[in-house]
Amino acid sequence: MQKAWWKESVVYQIYPRSFMDSNADGIGDIQGIISKLDYLKELGIDTIWLSPVYESPNDDNGYDISNYLSIMKEFGSMKDWEELLMEIHRRDMRLIMDLVVNHTSDEHEWFIQAKTSKENPYRDYYIWRDPKEDGSEPNNWASNFGGSAWEFNEETGDYYLHLFSKKQPDLNWENKKLREEIYTMMKWWLDKGIDGFRMDVINFISKVEGLPDGELKPGKQYASGSKYYRTGPFIHDYLQEMHRNVLSHYDVMTVGEMPGVTPEQAIDYTAEERNELNMVFQFEHVGLDNGPNGKWDLKPLNLHDLKKSLSRWQEALGDKGWNSLYFNNHDQPRALSRYADDGRYRIQSAKMLATLLHMMKGTPYVYQGEELGMTNVAFETITDYRDIETLRVYEELRNLGWTEEMIMMSIHAKSRDNARTPMQWSADENAGFTTGTPWINVNPNYQKINAENELNNPESVFYYYQKLIRLRKQNEIIVYGDYKLILEYHPEIYAYIRTYQDKRLLVICNFYENNPAFELPRDIHFMTKQLLASNYETEEQSDISRFTLQPYEARVYLLN
Ligand code: NOJ
Repeated sequence: MQKAWWKESVVYQIYPRSFMDSNADGIGDIQGIISKLDYLKELGIDTIWLSPVYESPNDDNGYDISNYLSIMKEFGSMKDWEELLMEIHRRDMRLIMDLVVNHTSDEHEWFIQAKTSKENPYRDYYIWRDPKEDGSEPNNWASNFGGSAWEFNEETGDYYLHLFSKKQPDLNWENKKLREEIYTMMKWWLDKGIDGFRMDVINFISKVEGLPDGELKPGKQYASGSKYYRTGPFIHDYLQEMHRNVLSHYDVMTVGEMPGVTPEQAIDYTAEERNELNMVFQFEHVGLDNGPNGKWDLKPLNLHDLKKSLSRWQEALGDKGWNSLYFNNHDQPRALSRYADDGRYRIQSAKMLATLLHMMKGTPYVYQGEELGMTNVAFETITDYRDIETLRVYEELRNLGWTEEMIMMSIHAKSRDNARTPMQWSADENAGFTTGTPWINVNPNYQKINAENELNNPESVFYYYQKLIRLRKQNEIIVYGDYKLILEYHPEIYAYIRTYQDKRLLVICNFYENNPAFELPRDIHFMTKQLLASNYETEEQSDISRFTLQPYEARVYLLN
């Protein structure tokens, strides 16, 4: 297995709107980020992934880009951005930018042109189809945000495709000129000195010829067309072309966001010799609490499912590809609230989940606030929510006859806004995020959970993350060791072994508040052992063949 800097990195994701506001307009900005770079350096991360900061009408908080080459005014200027890059590099950190090229905003110049006439030179940059004979949509695909994936365009009398909101028209990657424009844009940013890209829904860019109808479920008006646009027929050609024309000329990292991707497909995307991407974001492990009717249909996590899923990915990609490791991002509710205990055992839980993830094989991602043990929020009314997906689903579930109470319960558990409340810096008003009125309310628990408290407490979640990150830098086994699940059928403990050269790492995590007994499998022999991390005060124990775990306890041993 080849060594690489991006395999040894720990990435921190910034959602700029909610990170830090420097000018009291209630919206996070670039100068705010610059003011917190020392904080990130202290955490020990070495790469920052910045969610979109480009010009955008903000229908989907920047994931609807109207100009790829300029900075959103609310966030600052290109000069601010250049200062940010310089300050990041000055601290020996790297910056990867979000690349959103499955779609643009409908306010992008290309679309403004394209929609004016069928003869416009930009017309074919997007995906157009004639109405059916009765005037209805060309196929039955649903948008990922609800409703139809098609929008009628009066000027040309036909429909355009939008897999997300109608203000996010899908680009037509079959058009070579469009692809070249995108590559030129990517080079423009790379030449400015950035260190890579996170690629938004990049496995959606190739659609199956003919755009066939999806399978309609009973009682539904629209169907998922995902079978016809995930890992479509030309996806590998496009990514290899992108690699050849752009990425291969720079020393950068790439991570492709890929809803629905399987481990087998992920190997194709990330195998080194195929020259596509370095790693993908897969979604299996963040869908384990979805019921049969999807995300809003709540179901508790079954630990066995988590073991099965994460182990499958660890083993399948093994030496053939590379994994990304994440529990949180701007689209996911806080893992601490969904998969562990955000109440009585919040601190132990946050550290336990971090241990499980950071000791695995792959590149770990920390999402802002995760290192503080930030939790989900439960705003009382829908008017406090801002996310386009949440607002749409509220209407949809109401139309389906759900009660207000049921809807809000689902939203409290699953809304993307759980991850988007402002970063909790201190116990000051608005958590120190802004001196103005925040664009979305702060989680009321900020007086207890905030960075200032964490930094003042040596036992905090923050310092535990710092320690896990440092351990990764000091122990190659954490980066490169093989993974093997142990105690497969234990109902409460998730434990695994990493192996590298003559060393082994033993990771033990209790997922519940009981006191289960850990028993070391008999075939694991060693001469010496060293406790590398634990979320309780633990004495170096003479014998680890059998012991009782505390609620949500986690331990990491290095065995020799
Ligand atoms: C995935 C992004 O992470 C999400 O925030 C966005 O809404 C969709 N892609 C559409 O760009």
